Amino acid sequence: MRAIRGVVLAGGSGSRLHPLTKTTNKHLLPVGDVPMVYHPVRRLVEAGIVDVLVVTGVHHVGAVVQQLGSGEEFGCRFTYRVQDRAGGIAEALGLAEDFASGGPVAVVLGDNVFDAPLRPYLDAWALSGKRSMILLKRVPDLERFGVARFEEGVLAEVVEKPPSPPSPFAVTGIYFYEADVYAIVKGLQPSPRGELEISEVNTAYIRAGEMHWAELTGEWTDAGTLESYRRANRLVGHR
Ligand code: G1P
Repeated sequence: MRAIRGVVLAGGSGSRLHPLTKTTNKHLLPVGDVPMVYHPVRRLVEAGIVDVLVVTGVHHVGAVVQQLGSGEEFGCRFTYRVQDRAGGIAEALGLAEDFASGGPVAVVLGDNVFDAPLRPYLDAWALSGKRSMILLKRVPDLERFGVARFEEGVLAEVVEKPPSPPSPFAVTGIYFYEADVYAIVKGLQPSPRGELEISEVNTAYIRAGEMHWAELTGEWTDAGTLESYRRANRLVGHR
């Protein structure tokens, strides 16, 4: 089995959590008894991933490095890259190209907290032979997320923050890609919110017939709003 490298995206301005994020990075706020970003890092390491790139914004990179260190504490090796401005998830992913050196990556958003192990999904992806994979989850507040649209049971598109959601399935911030993802990122234009959207990357793979998907088991939440941040703390508290 080919080695997969991990990418944790921990940038952004955390504007939906102001004023909590005025002087710190969202991903360093506590979720349970550890900083938020520990949760996705632990899921990657538990899946056997030993090389992990952390992408974060220029303002708090010092604190992020101070917190995470070399990776020794987690059983992995961290590499760090700085995203100059909050240009979106796809832009941040674009910074992983050199780190990935032509190999596949498992990308997890630094504010995604979940309890299902990733290894079975990585294995399913390898078996599928597709060039990418996303994990879906039923959520009540779909309009906050990228949402899957199906045509006759077949995944057709990911729609970012749809006012009327086309299915009950949000796209979680867990994505697996082959190295052609960087060419797709380079072809993107900024969305109305001024970001390069990961949903457009995923839709490109879907249209090419190169997207595998699965429903994520167990609990999952992001933690980017006050409500979801509280949910993340409740979820972890129950472990
Ligand atoms: C981002 C993605 C969205 C995805 C979500 C998962 O949303 O754009 O497609 O469903 O992460 O956490 P954002 O947190 O940027 O609003």
